[in-house]
Amino acid sequence: MVNYQGITARPLSGLIGAEISGADLANGLTQQTVGEIRQALLDYNVVFIRDQELTSGQFLAFAQELGEPREYPLLPGLPGYPMITPVVKRKDETMNFGGVWHSDTTYLKEPPMATLLLARSVPPVGGDTLFANMYAAYDALSSGMKNLLAGLVGISSSQKADAARTREDRVSEAGRPNSDTELVGEHPVVRTHPETGRKALYLNIAHTVRFSSMTEEESAPILHYLYQHSVRPEFTCRFTWKVGSMAIWDNRCTMHNPVNDYHGYLREMHRITLRGGTPR
Ligand code: OGA
Ligand code: MN
Repeated sequence: MVNYQGITARPLSGLIGAEISGADLANGLTQQTVGEIRQALLDYNVVFIRDQELTSGQFLAFAQELGEPREYPLLPGLPGYPMITPVVKRKDETMNFGGVWHSDTTYLKEPPMATLLLARSVPPVGGDTLFANMYAAYDALSSGMKNLLAGLVGISSSQKADAARTREDRVSEAGRPNSDTELVGEHPVVRTHPETGRKALYLNIAHTVRFSSMTEEESAPILHYLYQHSVRPEFTCRFTWKVGSMAIWDNRCTMHNPVNDYHGYLREMHRITLRGGTPR
């Protein structure tokens, strides 16, 4: 347990994730509490707050305390709330949105700084989400690999097949008019977190296609190694949702992967991403 002044953080694993208590998001927070939640996010990289059955208005207001909400490029938001994207898997569906290890929308020039996810409907069991600490993944690399990666740029695409497939059901139902145009982002594969100053690995199997200075074939073995390495069990934590649970992850130094083990049940989450800067 770590005590801030107003909130308490209970770590979920040795290297990432903490459940926070002592913040009631529905009723407006003091700047002190908002600051402590931000600090806990920097300390634990992903934080979870239970029992927050917020209205869409309250959810948006809380997100605005933490940053600047941004629209998701590929799908529309809720009616009246363009910044809140429903992330749904219906009873009769088998693909789950984002069901591959990834950091959010790295194919954008300015990927989000953080994402908030609020559980609205969850299966009786299953549908957990895994998170991985990309600082820890970077730190654990050999000096040879760190040297190789220094200065390399990764190209991310919105159209890698495995990730695109996980969006198919939602895009065909309600996609934005341009949701099949390829978006491409180029970012350093090792980025320095603008707030903590720590280095984090910044590439992911869902969106990264190759290093800018190498062909896909040349990049593949190195990327493949790094994808495996970065999700070693000791870099991860796992969160079990209940209705009203909220996760906030720092998208600059983590990846996540929703587990698709609940066929036959509805799972519905509401998602807000916060504006980030250019990764450096
Ligand atoms: C997302 C995502 C994970 C989940 O919304 O970006 O990857 O657990 N969702 O639904
Ligand atoms: Mn995601």
